[in-house]
Amino acid sequence: MSAKGFKPATAGVKGDPQGVAVLGLGNMGTALADNLLRAGHATVIWNRTPGKEGDLVNRGAVSAETVEQAVRSAHLVVVSVTDYKVSHAILSRVTDSLAGRIILNVSSSSPQQASEAAAWAREHNVTLLHGAIMSFPQGVGQRDRMFLYSGQYSAYESVGPLLSCLGDSLYLGSAPGLASLYDTALLEMMYATVAAWCHGVALTSVNGIRPTDFTPVAVRWMSAVLELLTAYTSQADSREYPGSDASLDIHISAVDHLLEATHASDLDDRLPRLLLALLTDAAKDGHGSDGMGRLLEVATRRVAAA
Ligand SMILES: NC(=O)c1ccc[n+]([C@@H]2O[C@H](COP(=O)([O-])OP(=O)(O)OC[C@H]3O[C@@H](n4cnc5c(N)ncnc54)[C@H](OP(=O)(O)O)[C@@H]3O)[C@@H](O)[C@H]2O)c1
Repeated sequence: MSAKGFKPATAGVKGDPQGVAVLGLGNMGTALADNLLRAGHATVIWNRTPGKEGDLVNRGAVSAETVEQAVRSAHLVVVSVTDYKVSHAILSRVTDSLAGRIILNVSSSSPQQASEAAAWAREHNVTLLHGAIMSFPQGVGQRDRMFLYSGQYSAYESVGPLLSCLGDSLYLGSAPGLASLYDTALLEMMYATVAAWCHGVALTSVNGIRPTDFTPVAVRWMSAVLELLTAYTSQADSREYPGSDASLDIHISAVDHLLEATHASDLDDRLPRLLLALLTDAAKDGHGSDGMGRLLEVATRRVAAA
């Protein structure tokens, strides 16, 4: 149905838990709407810039002209826009229409922004859930893709079955910022890993190795690296870091080799220098024979705000 002929989706009127509105049709919002439709949910869509509907309308989505129309037609309102600043600007214009609905914000935020949004929601009697999507748009709908949720459990419980078409739902707890907290920590791991892979590709490429030859070896290596995380987890509690696998001194020597190879190839050395600084810090005060898990001491040390 076109925006001009907008009528509230019959399955989406208040009281029917199947009606969903998706606000924001960027890469992620489009993937969410696509999967909700595939699962047979009555789906209302809205985007600031018209013309982003693609084939969603032909496949049964209802395109709303205004945010208010979209919100009023749905029991669950999924917000997928750039960030919480944008979502606040959108939602605060239709506060009165949000009553009785569950708002799920899957836009990225910091935990602090999520807590501020939760305070706003409480003040205006709005039921707000927070989500973090641990997937790229192409992976939405795959059973193994994690969707992290936090906020009021009763709200999560009532829309949980509906959300199951998007991926594997993990409810983290009632504190609003929990989904964002996990999200920011997990994204840090992604950025660090991809940055390290890029450096590895650069280092091997300038030495005549094609990325297609390097990457399969790198991917196999990562499964061994992942085992370390499980091994070091118990050390986070015990605060003992035995160097029985490899000592910090050995790791520092390995990063020295990496730095030498980096300089010999005239490449950017910021990442290896950072790694060397962290490992050296962990090894100081006579801890060179401890294991790499001692980096936890560096990471958990509280630093004064700049
Ligand atoms: N893409 C991913 O892989 C991925 C994965 C996990 C989480 N996320 C999160 O999902 C959210 C959306 O990401 P995306 O990749 O879909 O981004 P995107 O493709 O850049 O889409 C951004 C969306 O925000 C809307 N928007 C921006 N400013 C607006 C404003 N002032 N008023 C109203 N709408 C506005 C855009 O509308 P217009 O079309 O009108 O510009 C568009 O619908 C982000 O918070 C992102 O961090 C993305």
